[in-house]
This record gives sequence, structure tokens and C-alpha cells, in this order.
Amino acid sequence: MADSLKQEIEKRRTFAIISHPDAGKTTLTEKFLLYGGAINLAGSVKGRKAAKHAVSDWMEIEKERGISVTSSVLQFNYDGFCINILDTPGHQDFSEDTYRTLMAADSAVMVIDGSKGVEAQTIKLFKVCVMRGIPIFTFINKMDREAMDPFELIDQIENVLGIRTCPINWPIGSGKNFKGVYDRNTQTISRFIAGDNGQKVETVEAKLGDSGLDDLITKEYHDVLVDEIELLDGASDEFDLDKVRAGQLSPVFFGSALTNFGVETFLQHFLDMTTSPLPRTSEGQAVDPFSNEFSAFVFKIQANMNKAHRDRIAFMRICSGQFEAGMEVMHVQGGKKIRLSQPQQMMAQERKHVEKAFAGDIIGVFDPGIFSIGDTLYKGKNPVKFEGIPTFAPEHFARVRQVDTMKRKQFMKGINQIAQEGAIQIFQEFNTGMEEIIVGVVGVLQFEVLQYRLESEYNVEIRMDQLPYEHVRWIENEDVDVSALSVTSDTKKVKDLRDRPLLLFTHPWSIQTALDRNEGLELSEFSRN
Ligand code: G4P
Repeated sequence: MADSLKQEIEKRRTFAIISHPDAGKTTLTEKFLLYGGAINLAGSVKGRKAAKHAVSDWMEIEKERGISVTSSVLQFNYDGFCINILDTPGHQDFSEDTYRTLMAADSAVMVIDGSKGVEAQTIKLFKVCVMRGIPIFTFINKMDREAMDPFELIDQIENVLGIRTCPINWPIGSGKNFKGVYDRNTQTISRFIAGDNGQKVETVEAKLGDSGLDDLITKEYHDVLVDEIELLDGASDEFDLDKVRAGQLSPVFFGSALTNFGVETFLQHFLDMTTSPLPRTSEGQAVDPFSNEFSAFVFKIQANMNKAHRDRIAFMRICSGQFEAGMEVMHVQGGKKIRLSQPQQMMAQERKHVEKAFAGDIIGVFDPGIFSIGDTLYKGKNPVKFEGIPTFAPEHFARVRQVDTMKRKQFMKGINQIAQEGAIQIFQEFNTGMEEIIVGVVGVLQFEVLQYRLESEYNVEIRMDQLPYEHVRWIENEDVDVSALSVTSDTKKVKDLRDRPLLLFTHPWSIQTALDRNEGLELSEFSRN
């Protein structure tokens, strides 16, 4: 393998950033980009207020709701590393999208608001992150505001999310009395000194117990710090890099993204603790990222991202080798060779044409409607087929129709397109053909996005009637007469886009009834790909 290829791949780091809305994910991302020189925000903090919506926000609905619906990819260079940040939707209703994005990442950064802790709406999202089993780094943000007790914050992360933690630094006070953080490893204190024109950060050697520290952080905070560090040393998990890399132990950092306090330290530790791109599995075998042969998988499809370009982009994570513009690759699921056209790297609305990209990178290619989520592409003698990306079972259902019957065509086009992106699942009545469309989603906000997108992108107004179903089961049996199945009156028989039959239930016990009444019936919570 050429040395240059090895070097390029070695310096790559690809992580997803995840948080509750307003915890500071965007602010933290911006600070990372500032370190990389990727963006230049003169008078950064004030500039941000005016801009209001940061570089990674795309859709109008995101601006209105202040949530991130789509996820974007940003790349920047720092200290010899080439870092890819995958933004994730900041709401649990989009946890399936978050999961797909996590599939493309090698680690995750979890941002928590120090004054709020782990918020109820975020639990599901963070659990998805734990489920993926990748290293998770926690940044407890907004320490310049009154924060919760740090031990309580740590407890919450451990108990609610079921992952052990290891604080790398420890806060000294918070809010008006935020004095800075104590680095447990280097035994230094980074002092937070608020000023009229932003703040000054000063790092000082800090032997706990030295009387000099009283002058720096006051005797009161010094005493508290000594007690807390003693408690922490005795009670918390020891740092163990293997456990971090196995996703069992989350290193925790305290800081304040807005005031740019603790961000660079976080980034440096993060880069020290993470590895170059991790291998993905193809038919039980790990594919070496450093191999000369290119391979990638599609983890996201997004249409109409930018009204100026009415097109569909398939995002893929490069898993091995090198990508070159115009190269011909094998599209496994399509069963033929294709040329990847208009390869791009994304910087929110800005698209940059890419000539070359390497394992660990994310590229977007023009999709003429041939890709599905989970598809594999490769070049070379050795066939590759990556494991698919699981689909989450929808939990909310609605009957959807267009208000203007003349717009049936646009309606069907829009709804199919959005379903292919994986944002919704669509079903039809089993016997009535195309007329009735039932939409299933994982989180109700996806209904709102559907309505909004159909109006703004396809000019179709819709009516939605929520349905009482909460559970979905695909019928696994090959030759089954669906209309003859005996089910409870509140069970609905439908079929999916690929004409596979399934049942929608309002109660879990109706699932059991269906199984009891129909001998040999096999039901599955997920569709087979
Ligand atoms: P998100 O992407 O996770 O949704 O959060 P975002 O970065 O947009 O931050 C949400 C709000 O929290 C913003 O204020 C931001 O300025 C503020 N913030 C982020 N980090 C910190 C921090 O470390 N300390 C303090 N005190 N505030 C922080 P906003 O008023 O809603 O937006 P803006 O008007 O400042 O843009």
C-alpha cells in the first residue's frame, strides 16, 4: 500500500455529535470548526446571534422549530488530523436517523447542558448511541451558568444511560462562581476568568492542598475541590482506554462552548483517545480500512436538500481505500457497475466537488433513484457486502391524502420519495390498491416534517388522520392468504412498498390473538431487506 494512502487514512477521525436541542451542539461544532480554521466568525459570539442558525442547519422547519431535522457532515483539519463531524437530528423523534448516522461514525460526542442534565426527551436518543457500541465522549456544557451538582450529573449519565463514566476534568463552581476546571491527570487548573470582552483562560499547576490555590480559586472552593477529587478518586471508575474504545466507559469533560472554555482541551483528548477509521463487517469478515480497494455503504439519502438543486443525494461512508472522482464501482444491491457522479463533500449548504476521499470520509453522490439505505459499493477483486442498517418499527400511524385530488401524481411522487429516504414508512390497504395511504413513523414530529416537505417541495397540501395503531408486524409466511387470516376487529391488514403483507395492531395482546387464532402464522417486528 502506498504510504500516502496509509497516512491519509491514519489521520482521519469520524464522529457524530448528539445532544438535546439547545444543549449547545451547534455552538460546540462551531468552535471545533474555528480551531480548524474552517469558518471564520469575526466577533464569534455576537456574530452567531445575528446569524441565529448555524452552518449545519438546512431546512426551514429546522429554523422555525429550532431543531435539527436533517443531519449534515462537516470536515475540518486540526493538528494534523482530518476530522469529519456528523451532525445528528437533535430530537428523539428522529432517533432512527440518528442511528443511521451513528452507523457511519466511529465515535460519538454527547453534549449535555450542565444546568439540565440528561433531559427526558433525550434519553432515547442517547440510548441509541449506547446501543451502537461505539466510544462515547461526554461534554458537559454551559458551566458558565448555574449547573447541577457534578456528581448528580455523572450519576444521571450512568444510571439513565447505563454506561460507566470517567471524569477527565472536574469543575470548580459554576455560573457566576465558575472558577475553571481541574485536570485530574495533569493536576493543573485551567482558570476561567470572565471579563467584559469575553474571558481569559489561564492554566496553572495546581497541587491540591497548596495554600497558593486559596488565592487563585478562594479557600472555600479549594476545600470543596480537595474533598470532591478525593471522593472521585475513591469512587469513580479508573480511566481505561480499552473500555473507552469498547463503548463501556465514557470520558467526561466539563466546559463552556459559548465562551470557548475547555473546547480545545476536549478536542485534544478526544483525538488522543480515538483511533483512525474502524473496520466494518462484510459477511462476517472485517474489511481493513487501509486496504487499497475502495468500499463504502450508503447510510443516508436526502432529496431536495437545497431548492436550487432539486436532486437526490446519497451519503456514503467510505470504509476502505480511496475514492476518486469518476471511478467505476460495483453497486452490490443493484447488481451492476456504476460511475459515481458529481461526488461532493458537504459544508451545510455549500457543496464542494471532491476529487479524492479516503476511508473514514463521508461523500455525497448524485442518486438517480437507484440507491437504498444500507447499500454497498466497492471496487476490486474481492466482493464486499456490508451488513445492513436495521429499520426501526414505526410506532405512530396516520391516514394521509392530498387535499386537491388533481395532485395525486405529485402526492404519490413526494410521499414515495420521502419514504425511500427512510424518513417515513408507507403502507396501503391490503385489498383496495393505491387509494389509501397509511404512513408509519417512529416519532410524531416526522408527520410534521412530511406535511411541511410535501407542501414546500411538491406543492401538495395533505390531510392527515391519526390512527390508533402502535405496533407493526410483518407476515413472514410466504404463501399466506392474508384476507383469510382471523384477527381482532381493531387489527388492520396492509402491505408495504414492496407488496409484503403486514398487520397493524392497537394493543400488544391483539398480536398474541392473531398468533393464537392462526396456526403457523409467523410475525416479525422488522421487515426483511
Ligand atoms: P443546539 O445546537 O444543541 O440546539 O444548541 P446551540 O448550540 O444552538 O445553543 C443553544 C443556546 O445555548 C444558544 O443560545 C447558545 O448561545 C447557548 N449556549 C451554547 N453553549 C453555551 C455555553 O457554554 N454557555 C452559555 N451560557 N450558553 C451557551 P440562544 O440564545 O438560544 O441562541 P443564540 O441567540 O445565542 O444563537
